Amino acid sequence: MFSAGTDEFVHDQDDEQYYDFISGAAGMLAIAGIGVAAASAYYLSKKPAPTQPPFNLDNQTMVEGPDLIHYSRFSPYGNEMKFMRYLYDDTRTLYDVMPRGSRISNNGPCLGWRADPSSKYQWISYQETMLRAQNFGSGLVALGLKPGPDTLVGVYSQNNPEWVLSEYALYTYSMVVVPLYDTLGPDACQFIINQAEMPLVICENDEKCRSLLKDIPACLKHLVHIKPLSNETIELAKRNGINTLSFHEVETLGNEYKFKPVPPRPEDLSIICYTSGTTGHPKGVMLTHENVIADASAILLHMGDTKPNSSDVMISFLPLAHMLERISHLVLYIGGGAIGFFGGDIRNLMDDMQALKPTITPAVPRLFNRIYDKVQSGLSNSKVKRLLFNAALGSKERDLRRGIIQKNTIWDKLIFKKVQDGMGGRIRLIVVGSAPLAGAVMNFMRCALGCVIVESYGLTECAAPTTLTVNGDYTPEHVGTPIPCCAIKLIDVPDMNYYAASGRGEICIKGTNVFKGYFKDPEKTNETLDKDGWLHTGDIGTFLDNGTLKIIDRRKHIFKMSQGEYIAPEKIESIYIKSQYVAQVFVHGESLKSCTVGVIVPEEESVRHYANQHGISGSLSFLCNIPEIKQLILNEITDFGKKGGLKSFEQVKDIYLHPDLFTVENGLLTPVLKSKRPELRTFFRAQLVDMYRKFD
Ligand SMILES: *[C@@H]1O[C@H](CO)[C@@H](O)[C@H](O)[C@H]1NC(C)=O
Ligand SMILES: *[C@@H]1O[C@H](CO)[C@@H](O)[C@H](O)[C@H]1NC(C)=O
Ligand SMILES: *[C@@H]1O[C@H](CO)[C@@H](O)[C@H](O)[C@H]1NC(C)=O
Ligand SMILES: *[C@@H]1O[C@H](CO)[C@@H](O)[C@H](O)[C@H]1NC(C)=O
Ligand SMILES: *[C@@H]1O[C@H](CO)[C@@H](O)[C@H](O)[C@H]1NC(C)=O
Repeated sequence: MFSAGTDEFVHDQDDEQYYDFISGAAGMLAIAGIGVAAASAYYLSKKPAPTQPPFNLDNQTMVEGPDLIHYSRFSPYGNEMKFMRYLYDDTRTLYDVMPRGSRISNNGPCLGWRADPSSKYQWISYQETMLRAQNFGSGLVALGLKPGPDTLVGVYSQNNPEWVLSEYALYTYSMVVVPLYDTLGPDACQFIINQAEMPLVICENDEKCRSLLKDIPACLKHLVHIKPLSNETIELAKRNGINTLSFHEVETLGNEYKFKPVPPRPEDLSIICYTSGTTGHPKGVMLTHENVIADASAILLHMGDTKPNSSDVMISFLPLAHMLERISHLVLYIGGGAIGFFGGDIRNLMDDMQALKPTITPAVPRLFNRIYDKVQSGLSNSKVKRLLFNAALGSKERDLRRGIIQKNTIWDKLIFKKVQDGMGGRIRLIVVGSAPLAGAVMNFMRCALGCVIVESYGLTECAAPTTLTVNGDYTPEHVGTPIPCCAIKLIDVPDMNYYAASGRGEICIKGTNVFKGYFKDPEKTNETLDKDGWLHTGDIGTFLDNGTLKIIDRRKHIFKMSQGEYIAPEKIESIYIKSQYVAQVFVHGESLKSCTVGVIVPEEESVRHYANQHGISGSLSFLCNIPEIKQLILNEITDFGKKGGLKSFEQVKDIYLHPDLFTVENGLLTPVLKSKRPELRTFFRAQLVDMYRKFD
């Protein structure tokens, strides 16, 4: 998840867009110049008790056998490699989730939204949600969709109540939901619709419908639109033999027919969640009802008293196309909580949060980093502010180390209140996952927000969270322990010098949350799932002495050159990229060659600056062809390589300068902006061959 390969459970897609809302809150940190002594006196008088951890935090996992398999101390089965499948007898498939939420909350509010940024949240109850989902599902059956897990239906929308209604409608008739989203790359939606042979897609708006109608997959017969379509789009669809209906029309149709629900079995497929690979087409991760329920149930058991309940409200803004967000929803519904959707524009997220006042939110490190950076830069120009801030942070960090989480100290009132209020003021629990989070940032967020923040690690292939930190462990820089539906072991990665016997290796996961394979792709499944059912994640981890897992690296592309030395091109790239002249770099090597070569997209501004100083002008393409500029860049990166400790056989011996950036659109980057190495190799084949020719 930390890079390409087996994929991340939350793509940092649309990063800028998603987290820009933080910028609006510049100077969120109010620093008041009030006496520090008074502050500490007030604060000393109100200290709550520390969190009671569920067990000794020096010994957080169970370990078994010669392979040092780590599993949860919460596991109800002890150490027999048996894994939890569900927590509640009445909740064994996704179809069971809403009735449980309804019972637990006494038919409380389930889904909420705002018509526009000036209005209040409106809600539908659990019963209404179930009824509308059943009607919508019945409508799909009336349109000719066959109940059962062979029918796959796409949902192509931002988060909204209709997304959830669609999903539960499909489960009501044992059909399978397939999220579609933009950042999978060009033509990905068409590829997925074709591969899954979808007869119908539920589509948010005119624009998304138009994009599907550009190149219509033959299997597609119906488009259900959530927002109104233009007459033009309706006409276009009609001309191409596609039936368009509004969401509401399908509900009405279903209400007329009232088809009986066809509940799924735990072993039935529930979702195919496509993720981008570093190579070729997106891969469809097949998850059964049991996979997903096991994961959510294990999280609930692991969380103990902090788990969501019927007083909780969660804000939904991370993409529902990803498992972390979906599992978060699930955990809320099982606990009878409510979900409020953001308005769809991330720039207004703060505003949505203030209207909703959520108690729970999932988060990604990116969001925390933004807040942290903002606060740090706000401090940089004032010594007094920094002093006061450090006193506040120091005081709250001391609490944290004692296991005390609170937000009513004087420091909160003086210093941290704005950050807390920015998120609505009621947040009590945040689950953060999807990428490593720096310790200083995590500490800061725990202190500033004064709420429980748990860190998790997982992949789409195991239904998202697979490890979680436990109550009372507020130390940063680890991802906790396996949750009780799975076990984790480390295996050797000799190429990278990681050996399980010395406590480091590739993380492998086995359990009831591990997927059934990639849809219609036995070869890739075979590369990822071994014959004993272990999922090979590609992430390198180590278990700390107290049994918590720490992610330390990512399995790299490595190859052996003709003289027998191993080369990791990504490592070389990570050094070259530091040069001011390099915007992007791709390092290539071959087993029959004795050196590496590279493709570099120059940083236009600095190259132009150099060119101007030397009386050269022209387009970037022109500059790329000037030998002097190529030599400049080659010399500079070789210098960086030397300083960065590269051996001479690792250094590129020649480069080709390319004027156009590698992008997601031109197919050279994954949606998380990682290089697609095989595509790059193909794209630049002629140049690579040409460079190597000189050394033959
Ligand atoms: C950790 O806990 C387990 C189970 O309670 C116990 O068997 C084991 O001896 C403990 N290990 C240490 C180092 O205390
Ligand atoms: C779209 O078509 C409907 C029905 O044919 C018509 O009533 C409506 O005015 C049209 N809207 C536009 C914007 O042309
Ligand atoms: C839900 O959990 C919170 C935090 O643990 C607690 O304060 C609240 O009383 C709980 N509500 C219900 C209905 O159990
Ligand atoms: C677990 O061990 C790590 C590494 O020794 C340490 O940094 C961390 O503080 C420990 N966690 C707890 C809760 O003691
Ligand atoms: C999976 O790999 C094993 C050996 O690694 C091989 O025997 C088997 O045929 C492969 N299966 C598929 C479907 O590729």
